[in-house]
Amino acid sequence: MEVKDNSKQASGGKLKRIAGPVVTAVNLDAHMYDLVQVGNEGLMGEVIKIQRDEVIIQVYEDTSGIRPGEPVINTGLPLSIELGPGLLTSIYDGIQRPLEVLVQKMGDFIERGVSAPGLPRDKKWEFKPIVKEGDTVKPGSIIGEVQETNIVHKVMVPPKVNGGKVKSIKSGLFTVEEIVCTLDNGVELPMMQKWPVRVPRPVTEKMNPTIPLITGQRILDGLFPIAKGGTAAIPGPFGSGKTVTQQQLAKWSDAEIVVYIGCGERGNEMTEVLTEFPELEDPKTGKPLMERTVLIANTSNMPVAAREASVYTGITIAEYFRDMGYDVSLMADSTSRWAEAMREISSRLEEMPGEEGYPAYLAARLSEFYERAGLVHTLNGARGSVSVIGAVSPPGGDFSEPVTQNTLRIVKVFWALDAKLSQRRHFPAINWLNSYSLYLEQLHDWYDKEVSPEWNKLRSWAMEVLQKEAELQEIVQLVGSDALPDAEQLTIEIARMIREIFLQQNAYDKVDTFCDMTKQYAMMKAIRHFADLAYAAQLAGVSPLQIISVKSKNELQQIKFIEEYIPALQKIEADMENEFNALRSAS
Ligand SMILES: Nc1ncnc2c1ncn2[C@@H]1O[C@H](COP(=O)(O)OP(=O)(O)OP(=O)(O)O)[C@@H](O)[C@H]1O
Ligand SMILES: [Mg+2]
Repeated sequence: MEVKDNSKQASGGKLKRIAGPVVTAVNLDAHMYDLVQVGNEGLMGEVIKIQRDEVIIQVYEDTSGIRPGEPVINTGLPLSIELGPGLLTSIYDGIQRPLEVLVQKMGDFIERGVSAPGLPRDKKWEFKPIVKEGDTVKPGSIIGEVQETNIVHKVMVPPKVNGGKVKSIKSGLFTVEEIVCTLDNGVELPMMQKWPVRVPRPVTEKMNPTIPLITGQRILDGLFPIAKGGTAAIPGPFGSGKTVTQQQLAKWSDAEIVVYIGCGERGNEMTEVLTEFPELEDPKTGKPLMERTVLIANTSNMPVAAREASVYTGITIAEYFRDMGYDVSLMADSTSRWAEAMREISSRLEEMPGEEGYPAYLAARLSEFYERAGLVHTLNGARGSVSVIGAVSPPGGDFSEPVTQNTLRIVKVFWALDAKLSQRRHFPAINWLNSYSLYLEQLHDWYDKEVSPEWNKLRSWAMEVLQKEAELQEIVQLVGSDALPDAEQLTIEIARMIREIFLQQNAYDKVDTFCDMTKQYAMMKAIRHFADLAYAAQLAGVSPLQIISVKSKNELQQIKFIEEYIPALQKIEADMENEFNALRSAS
């Protein structure tokens, strides 16, 4: 679509070309990333390229029906979101429009040109000041608190505002726009602040993460832990468990705030998130998980540009809660959908395509996103963290594709889902041979102190057994297990126990869904105890067949489903010793 450019006579910007989500305007005075209103309906868009006198804009709404010649107005502001009380429990689209409000305004179809504020304007919040007149505040200082849900929302001086002495401060019920605090330099502060989503919020310093994000998932905490403030990727083929794992993390990880970005591919997948998520119960409080969650939902009928923005909207919200001193975990399911949005916009821009049609800047965008994770000292001196966990859905489960490969180079933890395991119904279907965590060394001391001085050794032992098993399995496939020496037959059995007892975990079982480190340690120690008894018995002449049929071992299988596991485990270990003693005295 193209018109003769006679816009020079017109007063403002005019549309010249429309190519799906990407439109070109002329006669528009603009900077990169300015937010603009496009067409008669005022659709929201963002400047993404400036070429001589042409301004290229990605539009966050459906552009069908808009025509060349329609006006374009520059707001002169970058794409920003609203931060303040009212974020928690919200479900937003990629540009922070509350879905509930959108649906009320226009039914099931998302109409265009609808603007809805991110934070409710009419709701009053009880503001409790924590500074008083005469106190000095600076960017990031906490001036008051609001009990938002069961989470205390800290109201802060925005990062870019000049600090000063508090001239007046109020207490009581206010909307997010009403002024609650004025400074002697004339600055007036409401509870709400705005922040441009593409710019990381400033911190005093980033620190090396040394504390794990405990997730209650044994293969994660036990073998491949992520640190608080760390980054992890969960790549996996279709149906292998990305979403279940992300939801388990949302529910159980010991982060105080959860930001969940759902980029659904299939229409019904997002519907699942939209209906299921609000139903999830927070195991810590018994209240809805939404009370400490912000959900960003991209349905497949939403324009790609909004999906592109959603990741930035999400991470900005996460940083905002981090700035209050909270541990935040951000889940993006799946980042492949985000990368595809970039690819589509890039192809509309007729940019030179890189690998598999993705733009050349794919790697840079991915790393800018993951780099916003971290354990930090905030501007107000508190300690806060954002942990980022991105799912990746490689087409056909092929990890060599660009999104998986570029993500791998950036993240420190890799939880590789495996279709073969999920077909065998080994859940979580995380492959213990391909996965890794680069935090092990940094977290070593924490496990040493908080779990047991034995834990790190036990973990290495389990990994060795699993690796040994993989080698032995190759031999078994060639010559059968009978050909293996006795000790190696035992190794295969012990590896099976590690897999089935420790690694397999049922997300849908009331008890097994969460397993704290104390129980993880006790379970692994019991397996090790069996292994020690088994190898000793074998050296004393007991046959592998007899060892493998030790009955008490089978009861270990059930321990994960038992809440009061300590007495049960004590009994099993005592029985094991008795059984082995009997075997040895008989041989
Ligand atoms: N930890 C688990 N415990 C029990 N079952 C699981 C677990 N993880 C995955 N599953 C099973 O695998 C199914 C598919 O998982 P999920 O929907 O998370 O896959 P996905 O990788 O997100 O798929 P898609 O590519 O379609 O988004 C689940 O419905 C569930 O039956
Ligand atoms: Mg999924």
